[in-house]
Amino acid sequence: MKNKKILAANWKLNKSPKQAAEFFNLFLTSKKDLVSTANPSEKHFEFLFFPSAFCLEQTQKALNGSDIGYGPQNIYSQLSGAFTGENSIAVAAELGSTHVLVGHSERRQLFAETDNLLSEKLKLVLKSNLKCVFCIGETLEQRQGQKTEEILKQQIQEALKTIIADPELYKALKNQNEKIIFAYEPVWAIGTGLVATAQQVQSAHNYLYELLSSYGLAESPLLYGGSVKAENAKELSQIPHVDGFLVGGASLESKSFLAIAQAML
Ligand code: PGA
Repeated sequence: MKNKKILAANWKLNKSPKQAAEFFNLFLTSKKDLVSTANPSEKHFEFLFFPSAFCLEQTQKALNGSDIGYGPQNIYSQLSGAFTGENSIAVAAELGSTHVLVGHSERRQLFAETDNLLSEKLKLVLKSNLKCVFCIGETLEQRQGQKTEEILKQQIQEALKTIIADPELYKALKNQNEKIIFAYEPVWAIGTGLVATAQQVQSAHNYLYELLSSYGLAESPLLYGGSVKAENAKELSQIPHVDGFLVGGASLESKSFLAIAQAML
């Protein structure tokens, strides 16, 4: 792995099924040009989409037969039961999902998701056939208090604890390089137009790479997220241990999302 870049789109609470269908129509047509102007025999990108749960069925229809992955932006830590308003990974799988997004800072901050809950969710992912993109990142206050590394370490430690406590699951995780894709998203850079500098990204990704290596997860992809767009994608994608991006705002239009891919070629 790591010979390709992962470009993941987080649509958040945007797009209806109809709008998703329109997006994919355009995206699939325009994406062909992107590949043919580069080296067609080489796979440069793995595209992933995280639409709202109501759009999953439409996404399945649109992406059927393609090599593009997708899945929900959140799942609950249980498969079924009396959990009003939650979404099940089993249902996501039935709708053809390949991945789920877990631990996005908006889930942590706006919906009070704790490290404990996220750890339970990761355990469920490990027991499923799906992969996940797991988000970590510090707030502005934590960065200003020189706590970035401490926070990243704590988030990873807490996230992995229920898996590590189960030797079979931990072994399974270490044997599957892309089972968990980690996404470093400094909270202060999400949706704000503030991008972390190349130096800040490099330092965080180096740290995370070393940390993940200490867990036997050196091969896990490490994405950056936070106000990524075509203008900054090239520089950021060349930083060691940046294996791709998780993109919010700029993924909503096919043109701006593909412009990121183009900038990375
Ligand atoms: P942004 O969002 O690209 O709009 O900053 C990224 C994210 O929330 O994953």
